[in-house]
Amino acid sequence: MTAKVIAVVNQKGGAGKTTLAMLLAGSLGNAGHRVLVADADPQNTALRWASVGEAFPADVEDLSGEEGKLHKHLRKREDEYDYIVIDSPPAATAPVTESALRLAHVALVPVIPSPLDLWASEMIRDAIQIAREKNPNLVARLVMNQLQPNTLISREVIGLLPNFGIPLLSATLRQRTVYKECAAEGHSIEGLGSRAQMAAKEVDFLKRRVLALLRKVEAS
Ligand SMILES: Nc1ncnc2c1ncn2[C@@H]1O[C@H](COP(=O)(O)OP(=O)(O)OP(=O)(O)O)[C@@H](O)[C@H]1O
Ligand SMILES: [Mg+2]
Repeated sequence: MTAKVIAVVNQKGGAGKTTLAMLLAGSLGNAGHRVLVADADPQNTALRWASVGEAFPADVEDLSGEEGKLHKHLRKREDEYDYIVIDSPPAATAPVTESALRLAHVALVPVIPSPLDLWASEMIRDAIQIAREKNPNLVARLVMNQLQPNTLISREVIGLLPNFGIPLLSATLRQRTVYKECAAEGHSIEGLGSRAQMAAKEVDFLKRRVLALLRKVEAS
């Protein structure tokens, strides 16, 4: 099977790209899939996350040096993996981000429900549009991250989303301390065991929504 490629992108720093990429990759790995996290961010936080523990269930490699050739590098390795998850730097127009969007089947854009974060995400929306000139089938979804449900600001920002230009994935990540603990301990969410049951369910649901999206792309 040729790998399906998921690029996690946003111009906004700290939106949750690495957290989303690693939770998703870890959960796919725990489900028995062969998964590569291509750490395309020179900060290498995905790589550091995986290096803390010994048993992160996906390969994580620093590929930030590939820059604009990332898609060519990954194309040569598509048969080694079922899924390739690209964690990108907070730079919408960086060559490595363009390269990731050129290869991806699905682009996920994590957004914190705050107007500032939404405004700062407009550049990636434009970058995705430009990427479609070379990758016309690229499907993109916003992923609400650090959601605090039932707050007025969350509801207000969610109200702005239909006009944003990228549809919202019907799965969110709430603000949860266990997600920070995953990184601190080098685990996937499933690796935290019973203390992270609710979060593991949330990530499992998100994974299923992403897999459904990939199936839809494949069928079209
Ligand atoms: N759902 C969440 N619940 C709690 N903390 C979170 C959540 N998502 C992200 N964080 C925390 O927010 C911070 C930023 O997250 P992360 O590093 O994943 O963002 P990023 O978009 O990759 O940042 P950068 O642009 O610097 O690469 C981290 O401290 C992370 O642990
Ligand atoms: Mg990051």
